[in-house]
Amino acid sequence: MKFVITAGPTREPIDPVRFLSNRSSGKMGYAIAAAAIEANHEVLLISGPVNLAAPAGARLVSVITSDEMCAAVQEAVLDCDVLVMCAAVSDYKPARVAEQKIKKRDERFSLELIPACDILKSLPPSRNFFVVGFAAETNDVEEHARAKLATKNCDMMVANDLSDPNIGMESDENAVAIFSRSGESEEISRASKKIVARALVKKIRANAKKVLTKKF
Ligand code: C5P
Repeated sequence: MKFVITAGPTREPIDPVRFLSNRSSGKMGYAIAAAAIEANHEVLLISGPVNLAAPAGARLVSVITSDEMCAAVQEAVLDCDVLVMCAAVSDYKPARVAEQKIKKRDERFSLELIPACDILKSLPPSRNFFVVGFAAETNDVEEHARAKLATKNCDMMVANDLSDPNIGMESDENAVAIFSRSGESEEISRASKKIVARALVKKIRANAKKVLTKKF
């Protein structure tokens, strides 16, 4: 199968030297890319700025902003079987990017933000590739993950519970719950991201084979 995997954060510029971003390390997305290659899938990895080397065998497309990631995904899905949206794409971006460095002043400063491109929502509603979204939640994980599965029109939603600071973002370990469009759910208990990624790729492949009409 042809996998398109996004990973890492995006950066939304404020001025030539500042940006808005998040704590995503890219480790989970890169581990999924490595596990997919290990399972003999073709991998295109679309990555935000991270300090990781792409796994051998992956084609790497490096992007910075949510707009760049959105354009790269829209082009990549024209020829793919599975899209795994593991990247922590910014939800908002500055309404304007200042051309010059914004000067410090002794007064309050507000930054106007506008919604960034929602990549999952920008995908065509009817398509012939399988879509996996990620939900990083601090509370009511199952409720929020199931709601996102529906509103973002995904086939599968992988939820991380961010309330445990020892796993998930930036950590080498993770524990996830998987919710499928068909109503099924499954937990992958705490393990290294490498082990979690292998289990995820297995599950994605099995579900994609059931849902997609093409032959593999
Ligand atoms: O809404 P939220 O950011 O929690 O949703 C997370 C999921 O949506 C992830 O799969 C992420 O890659 C994707 N996403 C997106 N475009 C955005 C923000 C998040 O596709 N602008």
